[in-house]
Amino acid sequence: MSTNEIKNVEYGLEKIFEGAQDFLPLNGTDYVEFYVGNAKQSAHFYKTAFGFQSLAYAGLETGLKDRASYVLKQDKIRLVLTTPLHSDSEIAEHIKKHGDGVKVIALWVDDAAKSFEETVKRGAKPFMEPRVEKDEHGEVVRSGIYTYGETVHLFVERKNYNGTFLPGYQPWVSDYNPTPVGLKFIDHMVGNVGWNQMNTWVKWYEDVMGFVNFLSFDDKQIHTEYSALMSKVMSNGNGRIKFPINEPAEGKKKSQIEEYLEFYEGSGVQHLAVATDDIISTVTQLRARGVEFLSAPPAEYYAEVPARLGVHVDKMKEDIAVLSKLGILVDADEEGYLLQIFTKPVEDRPTLFFEIIQRMGARGFGAGNFKALFESIEREQEKRGTL
Ligand code: FE2
Repeated sequence: MSTNEIKNVEYGLEKIFEGAQDFLPLNGTDYVEFYVGNAKQSAHFYKTAFGFQSLAYAGLETGLKDRASYVLKQDKIRLVLTTPLHSDSEIAEHIKKHGDGVKVIALWVDDAAKSFEETVKRGAKPFMEPRVEKDEHGEVVRSGIYTYGETVHLFVERKNYNGTFLPGYQPWVSDYNPTPVGLKFIDHMVGNVGWNQMNTWVKWYEDVMGFVNFLSFDDKQIHTEYSALMSKVMSNGNGRIKFPINEPAEGKKKSQIEEYLEFYEGSGVQHLAVATDDIISTVTQLRARGVEFLSAPPAEYYAEVPARLGVHVDKMKEDIAVLSKLGILVDADEEGYLLQIFTKPVEDRPTLFFEIIQRMGARGFGAGNFKALFESIEREQEKRGTL
C-alpha cells in the first residue's frame, strides 16, 4: 500500500480512544531526529547494528553550512542523525548539555499550519512557525512546538511532496547496505520528566495536543526493593501515537529515571519502542550484530510465564526456552500477550535506549515485566555506581 493509500484509509476514520480531541489529527510518526556528536559514525552504527538503510543526506555537499544530517529508514521508521559543523550552534549547545539524544519527534499531519495554530492557541510554546520548503519534487510544510525539556514536536505536511525525504536532502546511495532486522514501525516513545512534573505534562498533552491518558502506573506498581517510578501513557485519538511519561518516585536508592535526568541534564526521551512481527529473529540478528541488551531475568521468571499468560497460554507459539536464552520478556493483558526486550543505553551517558516489542494482541506496556526489567537496570546502575 502506498503512503497516500494508507493515509486515505486510516486518517480520521479510527477512533480508538474516546475523549481524545479531534483538533490535531495525526497520521503517524514522520521521523525522529537525534542530535549527535558525529552523525557519520552514528549512521554507520544504526546501519550495521540495527539494520537501517541509507535514505537521504544533507550537508556541505548539498549547500548546508552549519550541519550534516543522515536519514535512515527501516520499513516505516525514519531516523535523522544530525551533527553540527561548528561549535557556535544551537545543535552544538544541545549536545554539550544533553549528549547524543532525541531532539525532534516529528508527527505526520495533513495541515502543518493548522496544527501549529491549534496547539499554540492552547498553550504550546512555539519552536518553528509554519515554513514551506520546496524543490523539484514538490513542497513540504513544517511547523513545531516545544514539549518537555528541549525536545520538540514538528508537524510535517507532505501531501504535495514525492521526493526522497524533505526538500534540501539528496538521496543517499551507499555501497554498504547491511540487511534489515525486521523493525517495522515506532510503537511508542517514552519521555522522562523531573520530580512532580508528570501530571503537568499529562495535562499538557491533554490540553495542547488533545491526547487521552489511557493507562497509569503508580509507584506501588512500579518498584523494586530499591527504587520506584510513576508512569502515565498518553495517546492520540487513533492510538497511533503513544507517549508514556515517567517521573521518579522516592525509593531507598536512586531510580533509573533520576539517573537519566542527571546525565541528560533535564527531561528528554528515554526510549524508542520499535515493533517487529518476529522478535526471536530480530533479537537474534541484533545480538549477532553487537547490540547489547539488558541481562535476562532469572529462570524463575520464565517458570512463571505460563501462569502470567493465563487464558492466552495456548496462543503462544514461541518456545519459552528460546525466549529465555535471548532474554526476551513476556507479559499479557485481557486482549493478548506481548514480547519485549530492552537494549542497554546506546551512548556513553546512561540515557537513551531502545525497546524491541512484538504485540500479540496485548495493548499494554509490559507492566508485569516492570520488576524484572528494573532489577536488570539496577544491576547496570550498580556497575556504573549510580544506584
Ligand atoms: Fe516501552
